[in-house]
Amino acid sequence: MKSKATKYKQRIINIWNEVAPFYHNRWAKNEIGPFSVTNSLIKSARIKSGYTVLDLACGTGLVTKKILTRVGRGQVYGVDSSKSALDIARKWVGKKQNIHFILGDAETIQFDTKFDTITCQYALFFFPNAQKVLKNMKKFLKKNGIIAMSVHGKFNVPYFDSILKPARKIIPDYLPKYPDMDRFGTKDTFKDVFVKAGYDRVVVKKLLFRYSPGTFSDYWNNYKKYLSKPLKEKFNALNKFQKANLQEMVKDNTLQYTKKNGKIDFPWEILLLTARS
Ligand SMILES: C[S@@+](CC[C@H](N)C(=O)[O-])C[C@H]1O[C@@H](n2cnc3c(N)ncnc32)[C@H](O)[C@@H]1O
Repeated sequence: MKSKATKYKQRIINIWNEVAPFYHNRWAKNEIGPFSVTNSLIKSARIKSGYTVLDLACGTGLVTKKILTRVGRGQVYGVDSSKSALDIARKWVGKKQNIHFILGDAETIQFDTKFDTITCQYALFFFPNAQKVLKNMKKFLKKNGIIAMSVHGKFNVPYFDSILKPARKIIPDYLPKYPDMDRFGTKDTFKDVFVKAGYDRVVVKKLLFRYSPGTFSDYWNNYKKYLSKPLKEKFNALNKFQKANLQEMVKDNTLQYTKKNGKIDFPWEILLLTARS
């Protein structure tokens, strides 16, 4: 029988294989909202010319492409468990001798090289066993090498919460309860998982970005439009009355962020961590 973690990982693979094109075109390649953190992440990783760098859970290659501009003749590895995300990354980054995209699971992937630096943007919370991933990464990070990661904050990300809180009230099993996606969303919990995995000099910074999804109708309609299949099925199973109710609850949550011109302006809290092996 498949374990809870294995089933969850398969769900994540299916979802990312489905949503990777929208994700890339709507978010990543435009570097909007939380993706504005990418330059800070790269800076904090202190990548130098000639380095060998791993971008873990590289997705469609946003961070990977920027790393390439820093390493000169160094080597860059991008690992992700979604084939569809990697296909986009390969096209977007372009063919170069020193970029290696690999399909693999962060928990179990093995390399025959060691890295000067490892980056990982917006993925730690997707790993059911984050400790195992961090210990695996530590094996391949050179002594004193830097690992740099970003995650969404647990608080002050109303882009997610305005919809998810009411959606969970109306559809209790809307999102899987396991793993808790917010478990690394405070400075302490983010730091702890690295300390427990044996990393040194762990520093977490809190950064605040902003994101405007347009008017409430833009926000609501785009949310529904780009839902992944498992969530769309749950949403579509609601009756008319439930849907209208949900929409009203979501609207109420956005009012405090709505400007006079009718546009929503959300804050977006991000945590940026660096640590040494
Ligand atoms: C929010 S995206 C971030 C992608 C990229 N780092 C960026 O900043 O655009 C999360 C990525 O984590 C990948 N992912 C999730 N679980 C994974 C695992 N166990 N091993 C490798 N990649 C994983 C997904 O396929 C997805 O591409």
